[in-house]
This record gives sequence, C-alpha cells and structure tokens, in this order.
Amino acid sequence: VSFEPEAGNFPVFTRDSSGSLPTAEQYRSLVGRHVSELPTPSLIIDPTILESNVSRMALSMGELGVALRPHWKASKCIPVGRAQLAAGAVGLTCATAAEVEALVTSGVRSIFWAYPPVGPQRVRLAVTANQFAEVIVGGDNADMLRSLSEAASASEVTVPVRIAVDTGLGRTGVRPELAAALAREVSALPSIDFRGIYTHEGHVQAQGPDAELREKTATAAGALMVEVAETIRRSGVPVTDVSVGSTPGGAITAAVPGITEARPGTYVYGDDNQVSLGTVLDTQCAAFVLARVVSTERGETTIIDAGIKAMSSDGSMRGDNRIGTIVAPVEGVVFAGHEEHGFARGISSLSNGDLVRIRPNHACGLSNMHSHAFVVDGDRVTDVWPIVGRH
Ligand SMILES: Cc1ncc(COP(=O)(O)O)c(C=O)c1O
Repeated sequence: VSFEPEAGNFPVFTRDSSGSLPTAEQYRSLVGRHVSELPTPSLIIDPTILESNVSRMALSMGELGVALRPHWKASKCIPVGRAQLAAGAVGLTCATAAEVEALVTSGVRSIFWAYPPVGPQRVRLAVTANQFAEVIVGGDNADMLRSLSEAASASEVTVPVRIAVDTGLGRTGVRPELAAALAREVSALPSIDFRGIYTHEGHVQAQGPDAELREKTATAAGALMVEVAETIRRSGVPVTDVSVGSTPGGAITAAVPGITEARPGTYVYGDDNQVSLGTVLDTQCAAFVLARVVSTERGETTIIDAGIKAMSSDGSMRGDNRIGTIVAPVEGVVFAGHEEHGFARGISSLSNGDLVRIRPNHACGLSNMHSHAFVVDGDRVTDVWPIVGRH
C-alpha cells in the first residue's frame, strides 16, 4: 500500500473533501501549547490510547489469520488510517462518496466502499475511483449492479464487487437464501469482478450488555456468512471474500472459520456506548470532547459549551437520553443538549471557564461533527489532524 498522494488529478464530484484543511492549518500554532489554550468545544485524541487500539486490533486479527480492513468513518482522519495500514490493515472501509474521494486522493490503494452504488454520482465515482485505486463496491441487487457494470464497460474499467448479505441487522443486504442466485447473476456481468460477500453484524450491539447473548449473535452472523459463501461456491461461483465487521462482533464473528476479513471501525477511538456494553474499556477510549463550563446560574444543572453540534445527537445505550459522559475533572452526565449548550449534572462544584472532558456516545457521529481533531498527549497539544470526507 502506498501512502504517497499520487492521485493529484483525481476528479472530485462532491464537496471538496479537503475543505476543512485550512481550519486545521489555522490551529497549527497551538501545537506545543497547554491543553487549556485550546478553543472549546474541541475534539481531542489521546495518541497513546489510539496507538494501542490500532495495534491491539491488528494483533487480534493477525492471530486469527483474518484480514483487517477498518471502517475509516470512525475517525475520517488520514493519519489514523495510515496508522491502521502501517499496523497491517489490508485496506480501509468507507461508506460515503466523500470518504472514497478523501481516501483515494490521500493515496490509499485498497478501499472497500460498503454502500450500494445507487445514483449517477456514486456509479460515476465507483468507476473513476477504480482507475486510481482498488475500490471494491458493495451492493445487494442485480439491477443496481447492472447499471454499475454498464458504466464500467463504457469506461473500460473492471469494478470489484461484493454482495451484501443481511445477517440480522435488517438494513441493506440480500436475504441469505437469495445470495447464491444474486451471486450467479452478478458474476456473469461484464466489467464486474465478483469477489464475495459482506455483512455488518450491527445487530450484535442491540443485544445489549449481556456478553453471552452478544457472543451467540456474533457467532451466528459469522456462521451464516460462511454457510452462504459455501452455497455460492457449490453453485459454481468462486468466493474469495467473506467479510464481516463491527466493534461489538469484533474478534468473535471474525473467529468463525471461513471468515476472511473483518471491518471494525469504532474500536479505534472507543465511545460511551461501547463502554456501556462492555465491548471497550473506559481506559481504551481515545476520543473526547473538551468543553468549558459557560453558565452556573441553574443550580445543580451546569451549562457547558458542548451540545449536540459538538457531540452529535447519536443516542445513548445507557437507557437515559444523555449525549455524553463527563470523565474529568469530576464525573458527570451531559443529560441533554441544545445545539451549542450541554446540560450537565454532577459537576456543580466547577466554575465558569473550567474545562471538562466528555466521552461521547458514538465515535463515528462525533468525528463527523468536527473539521479537525487536536492530538493531546498528557496536557500538551502535539498535532492537529484535519477531518476529511465529511457528509
Ligand atoms: C458496513 C459497515 N461495516 C463496518 C462497520 C463498523 O462497525 P462498528 O462501528 O461497530 O465498528 C459499520 C458501522 O456502521 C458498517 O456500517
């Protein structure tokens, strides 16, 4: 995998994916400063925890002999993707057109676009991007993949394809019993290189904090994928890739013999929902929102400058409606949020201007709310990373 930005003339069809760069550049002068000098609210990353998350997952998948292709939407930071690749990931996974553009222009050479190629813009990008990198495309319907095949043929490009299988999440994906028929159709399409199947076993998370139940669900999803792959092979169509992916399913789904690839994303930062499930330890969370107390006029309720625009409005799995959990300097809960205001309890000992660190509910939503992340090692700002490919 090359990290050099070779694709300088890569055409960009959606919003400029590096549009946030100037913002990050503007904050470079803060590198070397104390964390208290940062503007708030800010997304801050602990590099030591991040590095250990990156290597732990790489090691875990390496031990299983399963290729790791992390979902990059959790960070949308090129340095994070590079660290994941350097630790042994075979490539990265993404969901949006903007993410594909950001990764291709950054020189990432193997990408899985785990999203149906529907609409002229996505079809065009799937074809064009494959002139610069390997961009495997996911889909669950013969007609949508026929349109992709026609566009690929017109440009004399071959597009690698995996078909999505629904193993229980009930989102996209063909029903397992229909996968072989679809695979036969897709593998016969011109300019399409049928690679195999994928699923996102996101329903593992919905099983809640019962580890046994999660394990059963995660294993069942992997076993179903292997069974579907076997059925497709028996029908005469070769299957190379049997790809699964989620943080709660993690190494459990990946450990099912026959799974070839795993695509966890959230693990890289961790978040409060994973902590509440028990799939990530609080000590393994690398991403926080740094916020300030801005009003103490409401008695036990303290107002901070991080609302849903800093945290995202992704729900909590703790059964309350919190938008985040305050972890320092005292423990508290951001129990509600307006756009720029958070309503916190448990921190009434603090004064206006005091800093708090918040562990947000969901890392992926969090990253999408910010145009840059500050790397904070101890109390020092050590870097500013642009967050690219937003929206
Ligand atoms: C297709 C796909 N693969 C992998 C993942 C990564 O899952 P997680 O965020 O649980 O790590 C996601 C997350 O939404 C996804 O949609």
